[in-house]
Amino acid sequence: MIDIHSHILYGVDDGADTLFETLEMAEIACENGTRVIAVTPHCNLSDDKRNFWNEGLKDRFLEVKDAVKKAGLPLQLLPGQEIFGKGEIVKHLKTGELITLNGSRYPLIEFPFNERSENVFKKLQAVIAEGFVPVVAHPERYGFVSENFDSLLKLKKMGCLLQVNTGSIDGVFGHTAKNMAIKMLNHHTVDVVASDAHSPFMRSPNLGDAHEYLCENYSTEFAERLLLKNPRAILENKTI
Ligand SMILES: [Fe+2]
Repeated sequence: MIDIHSHILYGVDDGADTLFETLEMAEIACENGTRVIAVTPHCNLSDDKRNFWNEGLKDRFLEVKDAVKKAGLPLQLLPGQEIFGKGEIVKHLKTGELITLNGSRYPLIEFPFNERSENVFKKLQAVIAEGFVPVVAHPERYGFVSENFDSLLKLKKMGCLLQVNTGSIDGVFGHTAKNMAIKMLNHHTVDVVASDAHSPFMRSPNLGDAHEYLCENYSTEFAERLLLKNPRAILENKTI
């Protein structure tokens, strides 16, 4: 399986704290069938928490990649970011301060949970106008989505891809997010399921349970599409 949303890079956000934790997360991912992870640290949060892609982040990425290899884990790490949907995203994507998933046309973008739908549409439209295809992180957790399911259909119509968290399916984020995740699965509005892993313990990088759930409640083909084929197409910059 392929995980396009993970805070496995240690010491850069609220994800893994240490290299030891990073390696524990890598091990859990491997044990549960993940073979590729895009590292997606939070960024563009505010002036003092921008976490723009720079030499420091690149070095951390290469250090972790090397440590995973030395640990003998069959896991490929690829670069990415989880971009906070505020400010001048397009400008920073063009300068390389913000990066897409593995250099593809697909940036992973999140929003404040209480963001107004008008602001979300406007921000994403500006990104789309520049030729990018936004992957919207965990829409099942946003207030404007729970208020109006049609807003998801509008996002799809605009050309966005929708990524649901494994934790939402599990119920980690409460009934509202869980019900929305299931509704989205039932209506085939989900393009990717990813872990959004933050640690080896809570919100872990295990995709195995979601795979089992999707196989049992939908089909093996459906599970493979959301956990392997679509994420692979994104990371290879192919069309879904
Ligand atoms: Fe995240």
